[in-house]
Amino acid sequence: MIDTIVAPAADALTEEAIDPLLDLEAEIDRLRRERNAVILAHYYQEGEIQDLADFVGDSLDLSRKAAATDADMIVFCGVRFMGEVAKILSPRKTVVIPDAEAGCSLEESCKPDVFRHFRAQHPDHTAVTYINCSAEVKALSDVIVTSSNAEAIIRQLPADKPILFAPDRHLGAYLARKTGREMTLWPGTCIIHEQFSERELVKLKTRHPDALVAAHPECPAPILDHADHVGSTRAILDFVLGSTARTFIIATEPHLIHQMEKAAPGKTFLAAPGADGTCDCANCPFMAKNTLEKLYLSMLNRAPRVEIPEALRVQALAPLERMLELSPPPAVPARDAA
Ligand code: 13P
Repeated sequence: MIDTIVAPAADALTEEAIDPLLDLEAEIDRLRRERNAVILAHYYQEGEIQDLADFVGDSLDLSRKAAATDADMIVFCGVRFMGEVAKILSPRKTVVIPDAEAGCSLEESCKPDVFRHFRAQHPDHTAVTYINCSAEVKALSDVIVTSSNAEAIIRQLPADKPILFAPDRHLGAYLARKTGREMTLWPGTCIIHEQFSERELVKLKTRHPDALVAAHPECPAPILDHADHVGSTRAILDFVLGSTARTFIIATEPHLIHQMEKAAPGKTFLAAPGADGTCDCANCPFMAKNTLEKLYLSMLNRAPRVEIPEALRVQALAPLERMLELSPPPAVPARDAA
C-alpha cells in the first residue's frame, strides 16, 4: 500500500506539550485566519468539532466543497480516505487531517493488490467503487460513488455491462435491489453499521410506535427492511427535518444526531440499538480519533499532511471526476428550503 500521509516534523509540538490552559477554539480560529484554512467535518465527528467547522456534510458534499474551495489549507475532520479525496481533487492545496490513524474498515477490507486481481477476473465489468476506499483502489476503478449518488450514477451506466461493486456488500446489495442491475459484490462491510440488531430495533419500535426509522444503506438488509427512509447522512438529516413526525430512530453513526438536535430541538431522536440494546457500539472508533487538540496541532504543524504521488493522483482523479459529472445537482437541504 502506498503511504499517502506525511507525519509531523520530529520537532513539531505534540499533544502532551500543549499548554493545558490554551484556549484551543481561539487558537484554531487564529490559525484558520493565518493559514487561510477551511475546516471540513463529516457528520460523524464529535459535536464540538462539527460546531467549529466551516462546513459539515456527507461524503459527496464534502468532496464538492474540497474541489471548490479557494482556501490555501483544507483541514479534513473525517477519516483518511476523505483527506485523500480532498487532495486528489485540490492538489495545490495543503490538506491536513487531525489523525493519520483515522482509517475505515471498508478501506481496510479492500487491499489494492487483491482488488486488482478481482478486476482482472471480471474484465467485462464496470468497476463501481464506493468512496470509502484507498486512493489506489480508486485508481483501479471506473467510477466512484457515495451513498447519496450511487443509485443515480448506476442508472446511467451501460445496461449491457455487468457491475463490480466494492467494497461495501450491504450498500451493493441495496443498490442491486433498487436498480435491478446484476452486480458482483466485494465482501466488505462497515463495522459500525454491522452492529445494529434487528431484534433490538423491533423492540425499540414497539416502545415508540409513532417513530420513523431512517437508516444508512451501509446497514444490513434486515435493518433496511424496517426503514421508512434510506439515504446518506445528509439525506437522513434532510428527511427528519422535512418530516412532520416527532420521533425518529436513526440507524447510522449517532454523532449525526448532533445536527438534528440543533436544527429540530423539539423532536426526539433515538439511536438505533446494537445487540445489547444500546447504541454505544455504533460510535465509529476511527472518526473518534480526531480531537480538538489534534485538530489544532494539524493546523499548527501542517501535518499529518496528505501527499499523493502525481501518477496515482491522476489515475484516481478520473473516476472521481466521472462521479462528479454523473452526480445529480445538490439537493436543497430541508433546513434551507423556504
Ligand atoms: P455519507 O456521509 O456519504 O452518507 O457516508 C457515510 C460514511 O460512509 C462514512 O464512512
